[in-house]
Amino acid sequence: MTNSTETRERMPINFSQKLDLIADLWQPRVVAEMNDYQFKLVRIEGDFVWHDHPETDETFIVIDGILRIDFRDGFVRLGPGEMFVVPRGVEHKPYAEREVRLLLIEPRGVLNTGNAGGERTAANDRWI
Ligand code: NI
Repeated sequence: MTNSTETRERMPINFSQKLDLIADLWQPRVVAEMNDYQFKLVRIEGDFVWHDHPETDETFIVIDGILRIDFRDGFVRLGPGEMFVVPRGVEHKPYAEREVRLLLIEPRGVLNTGNAGGERTAANDRWI
């Protein structure tokens, strides 16, 4: 027999279902952890702030929409099913002309605004 905790842990994590529970833009929600890394779903639209992550790379996986990640010397455009790893220490600024739903993978404790701080900094470690 399995108890309810084991049953729950064996449920698949459905990105679309989880994303539909997220009401706020630019507020990442943790859906899983692997060792010290977290998988975070987030809905974004519009422009973000320039920032970098001095301690870690950051992975973007687009689920829905078209994401542009600006760099000081160019940009990359990602569609559904595409991913990109921003190297540590590289300044970047996500931009979404229309809503984008994406999965972020980064170590536990990484802030969305990296070293930039400010009002766009989202609370960390919020699960959904
Ligand atoms: Ni970042």
